[in-house]
Amino acid sequence: MNRGIAFVFIFIAVASILMFTSTDVITLFANQHAFISISGTGNQISCTGCHHHIADELNHSAIHDDLNCEACHRFTGTGITFASGDGTGSTPGNESHAAYTPRCLDCHGGRGVWVVNKTGSSVHAPPAPAFNETGYGSNVSAHKPLVKQALDYNLSVGENEACLACHTNYSIKFGFRRPGYFNFTWNKGSGDSGSFTLSNIGYGPTNSTTVSKSESGAKHEFKAINQIKCEDCHSDIWHAANHSESNGHGSTRASHVCWKWYKSGSGGGGGHGGDDPMHNVTCVYSEYGISNCPNDCYDNITEYCMLSCHKPRINPSATIPPVFLETAHAAYRLSCYHCHNNTAYSNAFWSIPRGQYDTPEFEHSGGHDTIDDEALSEPLFLQAETCISCKRSGDRWGDGTYKAYTEPNNTMLYEGSPI
Ligand code: HEC
Ligand code: HEC
Ligand code: HEC
Ligand code: HEC
Ligand code: HEC
Ligand code: HEC
Repeated sequence: MNRGIAFVFIFIAVASILMFTSTDVITLFANQHAFISISGTGNQISCTGCHHHIADELNHSAIHDDLNCEACHRFTGTGITFASGDGTGSTPGNESHAAYTPRCLDCHGGRGVWVVNKTGSSVHAPPAPAFNETGYGSNVSAHKPLVKQALDYNLSVGENEACLACHTNYSIKFGFRRPGYFNFTWNKGSGDSGSFTLSNIGYGPTNSTTVSKSESGAKHEFKAINQIKCEDCHSDIWHAANHSESNGHGSTRASHVCWKWYKSGSGGGGGHGGDDPMHNVTCVYSEYGISNCPNDCYDNITEYCMLSCHKPRINPSATIPPVFLETAHAAYRLSCYHCHNNTAYSNAFWSIPRGQYDTPEFEHSGGHDTIDDEALSEPLFLQAETCISCKRSGDRWGDGTYKAYTEPNNTMLYEGSPI
């Protein structure tokens, strides 16, 4: 496990979940006094008579619309006995009467389960990657803290708040807490391969950013997986990354990630003078259209977040950075160093705009060793800022004191001056 990772919990936390859907039982009185024979096999009480709004939501879902209410609310896989009037006599329920509230992981944990759908076929509920493992998988799965924290909220059972937040039109509000800024000093020895050191690391007072994911609020409206949008909950991050304007030093004002770096002497040409599509926000088609993109584009912001960094496609025949050998749900928690710090990771990542496996450049075998050791013992946030500050300061590249404000802010100072 990476040394920097554990620190991150101190700096990011989900402070609050404020809004949620209300359950519709508006037609409650319609069936309340109806007497229904329950002696046939299965459940004869129509759930939708009272809960018809929920049936509507499910019918508008991309997932689970083939399941009836009972498949989930009378799911037998957890050992609960439901009340039943099958045949003569009756079975009283145990732990629950006619219905229970399932955890998503009742079906999507372990190896998944088989469920009978509306047409009588057995369908497989696939396991939720990483979250189906003991302890919800490793710490490189970016949303493990979200799932663990959900256990402490009382809006839903178990981990459900976390699953609902991404997979449904549930509305939710997050408060992200981070240090308002970082400051640090680089000292570089002689030349490219000198002994780099990082010192005077400081963290500003905590800053809170609230992000609202406001949708219809419907918990039973399940999204197709490709409708889940990173920027719904991380609009602050996208705001910080999406600054394509020049900073006057050959780079851009973007923070969180950077893709453009003009090292002294190489101008717009060779060496590290690139404007590489791999992390380039102007290659996001939904935001910038096709004209700015060298080859193919990332279709949208989510594809950019994932393929450019948090879930890249990796050449199976390459030496794979250890972080990617772990299972992650939706996104990996990592920093620039995980990919750019080792010459062995050659041809490892699939970059959509280039349409070929690409080598992460400027791996430093030797020269940056000292710096990397010190940076890697810091939280991921600071690790990334050390790379970004150097690239953003253009041909000065390196030496000096920086102050980097965190997302959604985009200000970075070099020796007190904005860069
Ligand atoms: C006669 C009307 C009626 C019928 C039929 C009915 N429900 Fe309900 N159900 C209610 C009411 C009323 C509530 C309480 C709503 C509330 O607290 O907001 C409720 C609550 C629930 C809850 C929430 C329980 C909780 O702990 O919060 C679930 C789950 C549920 N029903 C599922 C079902 C399922 C599944 C069926 C079919 C087997 C069904 N209901 C049939 C009226 C009904
Ligand atoms: C794919 C599984 C699934 C299906 C199918 C499903 N539900 Fe649910 N339902 C859930 C889960 C999970 C929750 C708990 C949500 C939470 O944890 O807040 C829930 C919650 C509820 C609640 C409690 C109120 C609320 O909003 O939390 C009611 C009532 C309910 N379901 C009724 C129904 C009815 C009626 C149907 C059929 C039209 C249905 N459900 C179909 C999984 C399902
Ligand atoms: C009773 C078991 C059951 C419960 C509870 C349940 N699911 Fe499912 N889920 C299924 C089944 C079965 C499928 C397979 C698709 C189908 O036929 O509906 C599925 C499919 C999915 C898929 C699509 C997987 C894919 O690869 O396309 C997602 C995502 C999903 N469920 C998320 C959830 C979430 C989130 C919850 C909780 C709110 C939940 N499920 C609760 C049974 C369940
Ligand atoms: C429903 C809201 C939601 C969506 C959608 C979402 N995230 Fe997150 N994400 C969160 C929350 C909340 C946290 C903070 C968890 C914690 O550490 O407390 C988080 C944490 C992270 C982290 C870890 C940050 C750190 O330093 O620990 C990464 C990386 C991340 N998300 C990437 C993504 C990517 C990429 C996507 C799109 C595939 C995405 N997220 C979609 C809510 C969301
Ligand atoms: C940060 C958003 C986010 C959270 C939180 C989240 N998911 Fe997902 N989930 C995704 C995305 C994106 C995918 C598709 C990419 C992937 O598989 O990583 C996915 C995929 C899935 C799949 C399909 C797996 C397959 O192999 O087809 C299931 C099932 C699932 N999630 C269930 C869950 C459950 C259960 C929870 C809660 C314990 C949960 N998810 C929490 C975003 C999320
Ligand atoms: C998933 C692995 C991965 C991560 C994480 C990653 N990169 Fe990259 N990066 C790449 C690849 C692959 C390229 C493409 C290099 C090429 O085209 O030759 C690249 C290209 C770049 C370039 C352009 C290089 C040039 O000379 O044009 C810069 C600058 C860059 N990355 C900076 C960063 C920074 C800063 C971070 C952290 C905020 C980061 N990268 C995180 C894989 C990664």
